[in-house]
Amino acid sequence: MATAIRLTREVRFSVDRDWAGQIDFDRPIHNSWGGWPSAVGLVPYLCLRASVTGSPDPVTGYLCNIKRIDELLRSTAIPLAARKLDQRGWKLSAEQLLQILWPAVAAETPSPATLAELTLLSTPYLRYAIKREQTEMVTLTQQFEFSAAHRLHCPALSDDENRQTFGKCNNPHGHGHNYVVEVSVTRDPEAAGGAPGCVLPLPEFERIVDTHVIEVLDHKHLNEQVPQFAALNPSVENIARVIFDLLKDHVAPATLSNVKVFETPKTWAEYGRAEYGPAE
Ligand code: NI
Repeated sequence: MATAIRLTREVRFSVDRDWAGQIDFDRPIHNSWGGWPSAVGLVPYLCLRASVTGSPDPVTGYLCNIKRIDELLRSTAIPLAARKLDQRGWKLSAEQLLQILWPAVAAETPSPATLAELTLLSTPYLRYAIKREQTEMVTLTQQFEFSAAHRLHCPALSDDENRQTFGKCNNPHGHGHNYVVEVSVTRDPEAAGGAPGCVLPLPEFERIVDTHVIEVLDHKHLNEQVPQFAALNPSVENIARVIFDLLKDHVAPATLSNVKVFETPKTWAEYGRAEYGPAE
């Protein structure tokens, strides 16, 4: 099986004007953690993540010096984003902006690294990504949440075996989690048959997930109230698979590419299509 190293770097930035009415790309960087250019006043705040692959240098162990990735994103991608947003305003979709940024960043990625994925985060919960394998396709990933109770129990096992396997999670009356779900859908935003410039219109996407997933699972006892789990143990793995099946026929003209379910911040499972891969 082929293996590869993948390195990801994130830069945070704002591209709106400062109090002097300028976007000052000569401004020194004093707080790259908080973002550069800084978000002066109430302005959009974005993140760009570049993932590169290749072979690390045998001496330094570096696949690519992250300073070079920062420089590339700050000298190429961010000014280009600022220019495009200035020309077309915030009506430029995130998908279109990412498609403009991809070739510029891919062409300038320092050799021998190769740009594998470029992700634009428009909020901490909403991101758009392009992968090298299919650069015309954009994947939209949005987080949702629901709370539910479940009991991990298999009728095929004895009570002792159930207790040994599932421990406290076998409690007969169940227990609860605040689940976070990341749903990823993929489409060529310029392809015919959908809303131009976007994978799916975001409000429509949110309505679809709310109707077909959140309304079905939220504040329910999964074993007792959700038919899909009547004979299926509601493990986080099975929850990811059930959510995928609940949604897959409802996201046209996009394709459901991945569902990732966090049962806790330490435990998550995902189910997705191999051709698009996990959304992260
Ligand atoms: Ni549990």
